[in-house]
Amino acid sequence: MGRLIIVSNRTPGKGPAAGGLAVALRKVLTEHEGFWFGWSGKLVEKPEPEAVFEDIEGLNVGKIDLTQHDHHAYYAGFSNSILWPSFHLRLDLATIEGHWYEGYRRVNAQFARALKPHIQADDVIWVHDYHLIPLATELRNLGARNRMGFYLHIPFPTVDALYAIPHHNELMRDLSRYDLVGMQAERDVTAFRDFADHQAPATLSGSPLRTVDFSNTEVKAFPIGSDPDAFAKLATTPAATKMVKRMQRLLEEQALILGVDRLDYSKGLPQRVEAYEKLLANNANFRRQVHLLQVAPPSRDSIKEYQETSDTLDAMVGRVMGHFAEPDWQPLTYVKRAYGQPSLAGLYRLARVGLVTPLRDGMNLVAHEFVACQDPEDPGVLVLSRFAGAAEIFEDALLVNPFDTDETAEALRLALQMPLDERRTRWETLMQAAKTHSVDNWAKHFLEQLTPADGGNKRPP
Ligand code: G6P
Repeated sequence: MGRLIIVSNRTPGKGPAAGGLAVALRKVLTEHEGFWFGWSGKLVEKPEPEAVFEDIEGLNVGKIDLTQHDHHAYYAGFSNSILWPSFHLRLDLATIEGHWYEGYRRVNAQFARALKPHIQADDVIWVHDYHLIPLATELRNLGARNRMGFYLHIPFPTVDALYAIPHHNELMRDLSRYDLVGMQAERDVTAFRDFADHQAPATLSGSPLRTVDFSNTEVKAFPIGSDPDAFAKLATTPAATKMVKRMQRLLEEQALILGVDRLDYSKGLPQRVEAYEKLLANNANFRRQVHLLQVAPPSRDSIKEYQETSDTLDAMVGRVMGHFAEPDWQPLTYVKRAYGQPSLAGLYRLARVGLVTPLRDGMNLVAHEFVACQDPEDPGVLVLSRFAGAAEIFEDALLVNPFDTDETAEALRLALQMPLDERRTRWETLMQAAKTHSVDNWAKHFLEQLTPADGGNKRPP
């Protein structure tokens, strides 16, 4: 294959905070002498049409600026107030403003115009996530015939939720302009097929031409993962244990239950706190014996639904504290701040229970990272939502329905009382799965599929 070009809304930053995805793709990019392309993070009045390329710790990164107006329509608007809630089956939280779609397309077209001059004939282009669904169409309209792959990091919606998205047919047609579309889980591929096979009823009133032809597009699940070996190592470094040692002193004999999530309504945080509340209410013996630490860095906080989730959580945490806390015991700690990977790795290792209960999630890498950081001699237990893509990989976790807080409370009780033997047996299977589904394997499998030995077909532009 030729060079690899990766495109995503956010580009990798400097320093150790870089996520697993950036680290994994950095390796592949270095191998294939490619570059990363995306938004610079800057909002300006009049963006330059050309991308600016920069070396970021050995990685070649091309960036463009956006206007505030376009960025709002594209990011906070169409991407995060329409696509995100609908793809996560939260139509009740979607806001539809007609003009956002134009902004979304305008930004995708701007990405394409700035990227096209840097594309060579045999480059392979890998586009990431829901912000950039139309990019292949825009690039092909400019004459690009390259192999193009798209990876959706979030769940694919059910047909009904998809139909509720304005212009969903155009978006599906955009997907059909890629050679390969990767999804997180089999359930997403099934939902996609449901649309592809049964789209006719939705278009009966239109002309048959409106049916999208997916015959040139392969759609497959490529579950993403973490770098389990790197996390396992990180969990015992001095950087990881620094804060953890202080916490250990504070916790004394209390078992730590840990949640780490962006502050997003898809993560099921209010339900999680309610489940914990039920655990304490129904099992008085756990009081003073357990502590919930919820780390929740704020996210997309210009959007009303995110502010409301944050307010709901503030009130619930206050309620649990007022009800259960004693002058010398706190049932939980809630921190709205991001921590670096070393601190998180230490916390994962310290935790007796990893509580990962999104209402719906593409994969959930916290589940992977928690598993990787456990002490093999004395591992913690993963309590995992069956609606996270990770549930297809981690069958030996305690799988719960996060909407049923009684069930989650019961899973917490089982996890806290699980004998060492069972914890070890379950963890070994989970760790094996985390290794099989490492982020390195994910990138390798996707790219192998995108670049078949014969080079794949060249589509007409
Ligand atoms: C999810 C999405 C990513 C996104 C991330 C953080 O994981 O799949 O595309 O970058 O959330 O959200 P943000 O809106 O801050 O980029």
